[in-house]
Amino acid sequence: MITCGIVGVTGYAGLELLKLVEQHPTIHLEKAISDSRAGMTLSELYPWLQTGAQQLEPFQADALVGIDVLFLATPSGVSADYIRQLECFDGVVIDLSGDLRLPSNLYETWYGKPPVAAFIQTEAVYGLTEWSRDKLLTAKWISNPGCYATAVSLALVPFVQHDWIDPTNIIVSACSGITGAGKGLSEKTHHAKSNENVQLYKIHTHQHIPEIEQTLNTWSGTKATVSMSTHLLPINRGIMATITVQPNDDVSEDEWVHRLQNVYGDEPFIRVQQGEPEIKSVVGSNYCNLWVYKEERTNRLTIVSVIDNMQKGAAGQALQNANVRFGLEETLGLLSQPQYI
Ligand SMILES: NC(=O)c1ccc[n+]([C@@H]2O[C@H](COP(=O)([O-])OP(=O)(O)OC[C@H]3O[C@@H](n4cnc5c(N)ncnc54)[C@H](OP(=O)(O)O)[C@@H]3O)[C@@H](O)[C@H]2O)c1
Repeated sequence: MITCGIVGVTGYAGLELLKLVEQHPTIHLEKAISDSRAGMTLSELYPWLQTGAQQLEPFQADALVGIDVLFLATPSGVSADYIRQLECFDGVVIDLSGDLRLPSNLYETWYGKPPVAAFIQTEAVYGLTEWSRDKLLTAKWISNPGCYATAVSLALVPFVQHDWIDPTNIIVSACSGITGAGKGLSEKTHHAKSNENVQLYKIHTHQHIPEIEQTLNTWSGTKATVSMSTHLLPINRGIMATITVQPNDDVSEDEWVHRLQNVYGDEPFIRVQQGEPEIKSVVGSNYCNLWVYKEERTNRLTIVSVIDNMQKGAAGQALQNANVRFGLEETLGLLSQPQYI
């Protein structure tokens, strides 16, 4: 049995992790950690979930002895504070925030917060699972990718790695359900404002842009540049990223589909599809669905990627990374089908 702790179990990603871990055959929840609700039991916090009487505890680094893996489902900046206290922790840390994803200078520029110690940033393994397995096997710090970054990077890494497209000409239009913003209420996420509305936000300034560029550069050795606009949709879950690129090869649409299927054919969570993309095809699951279309008139490609922001975009991928890190079957606890309806 592998023991885990979830920090921020009262938040959306923490709750998703809790639900997944509750059904995991090998990873067992030892510590449910919450600073704001310490003292409550899980069954008081989530009476609709069959969790039992485990008590929520405040974060205390020295109380974590014996925990094999600690998930930090906390906001950027808050994770960094906890990470600074975890230098002597013996287990594996999987951080769902952006605090371990970028080198210090880029982190300060895009997040506007003080970075964690440079040696931790350097040691951290970026856990885009399908492309990081070898490094994950020995990682102490695992940086779980951002939700938009996961959707876009899974779509694009094969294209830049094989030099199929111009890496300096990538345009992303992406949209997310409201849970992507976390449970805290803001003017943007208030029901009256978000319902029956589509809001464009952080145009060209979203903090996942440097993360995507870094990923594409890492796996291609080129200098990728990405323009990205992000939108908030009046739905609970799901991300759709529509990506426009300039191909280097003049081949048919069928050939592009075939190339992508060749890359991802054996992946349990990536499905290369044909037909019309929709978010519901992944919501409630850990799948990433990909489509590729050729526009004959302009010779551009449109690549579409959909994920559930809280599963493949957060808690699902975090658990997938834990499965890989501890040598377990990678799909354990993660094979639920999309809810669809
Ligand atoms: N939601 C998504 O779709 C998604 C996707 C990818 C990555 N992430 C990342 O996962 C992390 C958690 O996201 P989330 O959506 O679950 O956020 P959330 O719903 O706002 O929950 C965050 C949790 O962090 C804890 N926390 C501790 N100090 C805090 C502080 N100063 N301010 C706010 N919360 C604090 C809170 O729990 P206690 O007060 O009980 O300790 C809270 O429940 C974030 O870093 C986020 O960027 C989220």
